[in-house]
Amino acid sequence: MSELTDKLRKEIEDAVITTKDELEAFRLAYLSRKGQVTQLLGKIGSVAAEERRAFGQQVNEIKQLAQTKFKEAEDQLASGQQASRAATDDITLPPYPITTGRLHPLTQTLDRIKQVFYRLGFSVAEGPELEDDFHNFTALNFPPEHPARDMQDTFFVRKSDRPDEQDLVLRTHTSPVQIRLMKTQKPPLRSIMPGRVYRNESITAKSYCLFHQVEGLYVDRHVSLAELKDTLIMFVQMIYGEEVRYRIRPSYFPFTEPSLEMDVWWGDEKTGKWLEILGAGMVHPNVLRAVNVDPETYSGFAFGMGVERIAMLFYGIDDIRLLYDNDLRFLQQF
Ligand code: DAH
Repeated sequence: MSELTDKLRKEIEDAVITTKDELEAFRLAYLSRKGQVTQLLGKIGSVAAEERRAFGQQVNEIKQLAQTKFKEAEDQLASGQQASRAATDDITLPPYPITTGRLHPLTQTLDRIKQVFYRLGFSVAEGPELEDDFHNFTALNFPPEHPARDMQDTFFVRKSDRPDEQDLVLRTHTSPVQIRLMKTQKPPLRSIMPGRVYRNESITAKSYCLFHQVEGLYVDRHVSLAELKDTLIMFVQMIYGEEVRYRIRPSYFPFTEPSLEMDVWWGDEKTGKWLEILGAGMVHPNVLRAVNVDPETYSGFAFGMGVERIAMLFYGIDDIRLLYDNDLRFLQQF
């Protein structure tokens, strides 16, 4: 008897059920009224009394085994079927949106500015954000008592009274990179110098404690103011389009002579206003001398523009703080 049950148990254990047909065949072979397990159950009565108990237990175990196997295979087939139905979902439906990152509007603006100057033959240079007094002020012809050195505008990192130790500042503009460039490279040179600058000002819709500038420097023999004006006009036209309204007016910077500023009209005819986007001028002879370039032989022009200003004009953003909040609802618009 136990030979019979062992054989049947093995058969059930080894049965492979991967299709609905195989599942039905399994049911018919073992669990249906004429199935082997049911047949065996019917035989319990005819077994000798002393073996009946053990035999009954074995047959019941086999029945359990067959039922469990059937149920598991049934469940598996049902879920497999669901998966294959999902694969035939309506493929004409629009897909889930793929969300990708994007460049910050300031980065996009900076890229645009760089593209313009690449086309005009400028290369890109960079300098440190932590500067010393010499590069940030002295070499740029700032007199010792100049108000820009005042605590109100400058973040001092080190204020020193020792003659052998310079003050250290978070650079207040990118102009010190001009000095670094001219110290390491001889003219002719033509570079833009983008970077982050810091000012100790109160934070408003118009000003922030840090912002970005792009400095420009062109030094060679016979560089003229006319070339500077041409370059700047080409720049605003390439950024804002041929129709852009701009004006150039005289100004003052210690490191240029003459100096000028450029404004761009922002808004419509009635409610618009002029917004300053850059300062510029012919490099002051004292600046050239500070880096051992002979002002009798060489001349140059320089400019410095605010990237935030240019981005705000370009996109119509009216509060500089939006550029630093990192609010996705704002950033996703660019
Ligand atoms: N450094 C000036 C500023 O931060 C901007 C500037 C003006 C840069 C004139 C220049 C320049 O190179 O020639 O306001």
